[in-house]
Amino acid sequence: MQRVSTGVSKLDKMLGGGFIQGRTYLITGETGAGKTILALQFLRDGLLRNEPCVYVSLDERVGNVLTGAETLGWNFWPYVKSGLFYPFEIRLEAAEVRKYGKESKAFIEAIRKVTRGGPISRIVLDPVSALAMGAKEEFYVREYLREVITYLEEVCNATTLLITDIPTGSAGLSRFGYEEFLASGVIVMGITRLDGRLVRTLYVRKMRWSQMDPTIYTFDIQSDFGIVIKQPLDALIGKSTKSKIKADEDEEE
Ligand SMILES: Nc1ncnc2c1ncn2[C@@H]1O[C@H](COP(=O)(O)OP(=O)(O)OP(=O)(O)O)[C@@H](O)[C@H]1O
Ligand SMILES: [Mg+2]
Repeated sequence: MQRVSTGVSKLDKMLGGGFIQGRTYLITGETGAGKTILALQFLRDGLLRNEPCVYVSLDERVGNVLTGAETLGWNFWPYVKSGLFYPFEIRLEAAEVRKYGKESKAFIEAIRKVTRGGPISRIVLDPVSALAMGAKEEFYVREYLREVITYLEEVCNATTLLITDIPTGSAGLSRFGYEEFLASGVIVMGITRLDGRLVRTLYVRKMRWSQMDPTIYTFDIQSDFGIVIKQPLDALIGKSTKSKIKADEDEEE
């Protein structure tokens, strides 16, 4: 099985060598967790290897995303101009998904149109949860998403990232509870409070056919590098407990 880099070398190791080429993965986490940044880092890695990449924005204006990426020192515009990178927006109302059902393939057609039927190596749908907002009948959305994924995997042979947000404080892995079953692997990003500050965390929750590292790691977001994985959360908690004990002892003296 051929592996595809996530763009974060430590994460590749955690996944047992990276994503499996042509499969679909879920990046999940609360708002502001860093999901879009990880997705852009994955696409950037592909673009640097001259692979055609697609970014489908389902809620934010795509221009804002690319301009935002500049704050990290990432300039996607030359790739857009040269025709290697296809960023675009799709706004689908739940009612439309229902009306067209899985037969319409409107979503797939939109992707084909934008890429003019050319090859796609990596694709990001950000966030897929926007597809199903307000949908009463989950069945239609699930079947719809399944059709899209099957097309991307079987026809395009693209490595796909589905981004999904989860409500703050939720114990679930995805907004609707079925996105994770459609994916070959799940990466969970989060923000935890520790000693009066927020610590970013990331772990691999599932990785089919791979020996994965189940450790919860901390990470930073840095200019140029993007997601930079640091020490395990446990080590940080251990340090903070030790420093607390030391502070208590100092106080007692
Ligand atoms: N240039 C930057 N340098 C450092 N950190 C940044 C930079 N730009 C954004 N961030 C951090 O990244 C966070 C947003 O990351 P991102 O947009 O990937 O989150 P997200 O998980 O996609 O959120 P949402 O679900 O709302 O779309 C910001 O809250 C900020 O803390
Ligand atoms: Mg986002």
